[in-house]
Amino acid sequence: MSNVDYDAVALHPVPPRMINGTEVPFIGPNLEAYQKAHAESVGENADKWWAKMARETLHWDRPFQTVRTGSFENGDIAWFPEGYVNACYNCVDRWAFQDPNKTAIIYEADEPGQHKNISYGELLREVSRLANVLKSHGIGKGDTVTVYMPMTWQAVAAFLACARIGALHSVVFAGFSSESLADRINDCKSRVVLTADEGRRGGKIINIKALADKALEKCPNVEAVIVLQHTGNPVGWVEGRDKWWHEESAKVPNYCPPALLNSEDGLFILYTSGSTGKPKGIMHTIGGYLLGAAMTIKYVFEVHPDDKFGCMADLGWITGHTYLVYGPLANGVATLVFESTPVYPTPARFWETIDTHKLTHFYTAPTAVRLLRRLGEQHVAKADLSSLRIIASVGEPINPEAWHWLNDHVGRKQAAIVDTFFQTETGSIVLSPIPGAIETKPGSATVPFLGMTYALLDPTTGKELEGPGVEGVLVFKNTWPSIARSVWKDHNRWLDVYMRPYPGYFFTGDGAVRDKDGYIWIKGRVDDVINVSGHRLSTAEIESALILYPGVAEAAVIGANDELTGQAVHAFVTLKAEFNYDPTNESGLIKELVLQVRKVIGPFATPKKIYIVSDLPKTRSGKIMRRIMRKVIAGEGDQLGDLSTLAEPGVVSVIKDKVAAMS
Ligand code: WT7
Repeated sequence: MSNVDYDAVALHPVPPRMINGTEVPFIGPNLEAYQKAHAESVGENADKWWAKMARETLHWDRPFQTVRTGSFENGDIAWFPEGYVNACYNCVDRWAFQDPNKTAIIYEADEPGQHKNISYGELLREVSRLANVLKSHGIGKGDTVTVYMPMTWQAVAAFLACARIGALHSVVFAGFSSESLADRINDCKSRVVLTADEGRRGGKIINIKALADKALEKCPNVEAVIVLQHTGNPVGWVEGRDKWWHEESAKVPNYCPPALLNSEDGLFILYTSGSTGKPKGIMHTIGGYLLGAAMTIKYVFEVHPDDKFGCMADLGWITGHTYLVYGPLANGVATLVFESTPVYPTPARFWETIDTHKLTHFYTAPTAVRLLRRLGEQHVAKADLSSLRIIASVGEPINPEAWHWLNDHVGRKQAAIVDTFFQTETGSIVLSPIPGAIETKPGSATVPFLGMTYALLDPTTGKELEGPGVEGVLVFKNTWPSIARSVWKDHNRWLDVYMRPYPGYFFTGDGAVRDKDGYIWIKGRVDDVINVSGHRLSTAEIESALILYPGVAEAAVIGANDELTGQAVHAFVTLKAEFNYDPTNESGLIKELVLQVRKVIGPFATPKKIYIVSDLPKTRSGKIMRRIMRKVIAGEGDQLGDLSTLAEPGVVSVIKDKVAAMS
């Protein structure tokens, strides 16, 4: 990405059918319409505009009087503070009452041909039962429930059951190891865990219950584990603690009234990685988050009532939360739960799924696109795909090749391609083109969403950079409804990481460019966070995992560019002098270190390369100079810049030799 000449990229027109009023975007037909709406949403009368949006979009059990209060600096942001609103009621009941037979969820199982549609009426009953089960285990408002489940429609019900009774869900991606799961359960002190016997993915079985059992050995607070019978294979059982989902559900009524909840009550916690080792429990509240989710689905995705929304993200990430569960359901449309992978049983799986269900929207990550592009056009060529109107990408910068491949081979130049930028912390999309109204540029996240004002800051002075053709750190200037409110039980950390680096602004952690037309291009993280296949990883977290291995003295982890995964994890490791190491079996030790990372974090954090070296480059004060390793891996070992602070200059050749020997 860094080599793109942004100013040379031509504007890409909106799809032909969206021009001249044949299909007018909700925002209006063109750039001027967007500019007008945006100006209103951030101008003097912004709060009036937001009040109208909030009343139009959501059902309020009690009206709000105040639109917003608080500031970044004071850490007291609140939206619609007198309002009462139930996210589950907004996502399920109001549609079930209108038409109980309308499809809410399309579940596409791992094996092709096995799919099931779940109606809003059925979803309401399942959610009600599960909410009653949770209540019967003493769960209520303000409690946390950890959800560790495979991609099933019941997992969606789990989110909504918590939301219905005011419990905060903490969904943990099923790819996390038992150790990571245990840390997350203990951090938010869940007393109840929702899980399943097993998951399926790409023809393989995932031992979810066994992984959960192992985690729970370290979680003394957990009193009950509700287990969905998914594959039906036998699993380990702890009498008294473990309960079958279907047996518990059979004991309780099929209706549960939604709780009366304040707009600023907690909706969920979602753990994400930051610059330091410990994951942060990002906390979102009900009203603002749901409004952001619902409004972006409407304006960014142009969703109409009969649409079928295909978000391929896992439920365990923010994209799954906002664009698989809350956003589509708050708009009353059908949403896809896809249990499989893009390549199972063949690389045509996405395309067959789109055709089978006539999906109107396809939302994925650039890494999947790069993989499918590499596997050849023959797989996509056979598909019809004419149902698709909007194709969107998220999670990492999309390279122009991947963008054009989507446009040519998937959208066939008829669909809009939308590059959306957001974060766990922003809750919903904050930068994105508005299809039909904004001309795009392949690889650019284009413009701020309604209500967002951004700036690019000089990283050292913190001054706003003015005009076109500048590069700096991306910050937001005003609060917006779906911004997270805190880090769970660590408000000071929330302020430290996001509010204090540049006082008066929200700091994203990303660098960005504004080109000559004012379009925004995301360059990637400026902190110690790396992005592998759209998964956010902390270098510090991987380093701590490696250091836990008995023989390891020090570890330095960096992200290196990777053609397929965007970035890949490279780790440099030194060993303790007393460690009994056989240098003729280096590969044996590397394997163990890889396993160590998989065990402590999860398979998705697997290092691509581990270099065992005798020393790491450090400053005289002992700070590891990751820049040197980064440059050597990028093949820029001859451009190391100022090395005068390096304590031991000989170490550079140690690093260079090792990297050369292993490439
Ligand atoms: C980080 C947030 C947002 C859903 C998935 C990731 C990167 C996200 C884009 C994009 C370039 C992007 C940023 C951001 N990112 N979307 N369209 N272009 N980079 O959520 O795990 O909270 O990660 O993902 O670096 O900070 P997350």
